[in-house]
Amino acid sequence: MATVIPDKNDVRVKALQTFAKEFGEDATVCVCAPGRVNLIGEHTDYNEGFVLPMALPMITVIAARPNQSPKCVLITMSDAIGTISRTEFDISNRDALKPGEPKWANYIKGPIANFTCTLPGFDAVIISSVPVGAGLSSSAALEVATYTLLEALSGCRTVKLSDKAAACQRAEHEFAGVPCGIMDQFISVMGQEGHALLLDCRDLSTKLIPMVQNDYVFLITNSNAPHKLSTSQYTERRDACYAAAKKLNLKSLRDATIKDLDVLKAQKADEVLIKRARHVITEIIRTQAAAQALEASDFVKFGHLMNESHDSLQKDYEVSSKELDSLVSAAREIDGVLGSRLTGAGFGGCTVTLVRKGSVDELIKNIKQKYSGTPTFYVATPGPGAREMGINYCKCTDELH
Ligand code: GLA
Repeated sequence: MATVIPDKNDVRVKALQTFAKEFGEDATVCVCAPGRVNLIGEHTDYNEGFVLPMALPMITVIAARPNQSPKCVLITMSDAIGTISRTEFDISNRDALKPGEPKWANYIKGPIANFTCTLPGFDAVIISSVPVGAGLSSSAALEVATYTLLEALSGCRTVKLSDKAAACQRAEHEFAGVPCGIMDQFISVMGQEGHALLLDCRDLSTKLIPMVQNDYVFLITNSNAPHKLSTSQYTERRDACYAAAKKLNLKSLRDATIKDLDVLKAQKADEVLIKRARHVITEIIRTQAAAQALEASDFVKFGHLMNESHDSLQKDYEVSSKELDSLVSAAREIDGVLGSRLTGAGFGGCTVTLVRKGSVDELIKNIKQKYSGTPTFYVATPGPGAREMGINYCKCTDELH
């Protein structure tokens, strides 16, 4: 059986209750932002290509209240063990904010440093149902939730939502040290219930693709294998793409075609560089084709493209791992599976599999048998992007304890 995703209202109530308990009064604002799963279009965003993610029903919630001081007082609760972690910092000079310890607070400091309007000091409680370090964008969810909180606290709402995503992407660059593309923050801001989103990372134009009721679902499998060296390897891949584009005299690999691979060969470019470029060029083509297939409910085609995407990420981009490969091959053994691939940056994290509804249990059983680790499974249904939530909740359960 797939893991039951915590109900969004339960996460909200837990944040509000924890706030009241820890700060001795009720929160006045509550916001949330979702994690994401990328269906196809991997390592294409920083090459101005296409991506096709959807927002998840797993969310990061922040309950907060202005505290009439120049300080942010933050509390987070790690869901697994229920431990509370607390930190505080001064926001009277936001230009002076620097990343530091604890690391989780950097994802809050970053958006604060990148927010342009006047801000009050505030107390906040953060609770998340997005698994951390699983490649489902828990960091983007926290950055976007923070930014949404700052908008609510200041009353200063960003007019262009892509500017909000870009500010959160800068926060990740500057405060988490990851030179990521725009995809994760963008989908966390822009996600729409019941839809995947085709995003052109060159001009940030979008197309919503309805995930209509049908016989298939996307199953996310978390390898629960830790990411290894992911930031340095991510940066290395990005730099190889930029170097390949430069050799071709192009602004980015978005402008490259398959024929350009021959140009690189003729230039005696490094074999590794050619492989990296081949992944990006073919993945951009696959993502556009996959979006069309999804719109046409051509799941067989979509599944093929997912398989090709994984094989390209494994062989040419070399960002898979033995755990991810083992999950993908166990998935592909099942009849009702149309396609399976790693999702996100790679080097650990999750796979996403397109499977007939009736075959989900058999798929989970096979993965559990063949995979040496302890995986977790989620059926992914597209949820909405960042938003404010209500602050009312029934205090009756509180009184019982
Ligand atoms: C990470 C980054 C994204 C994107 C993916 C790979 O999730 O944050 O910007 O590059 O990896 O597709």
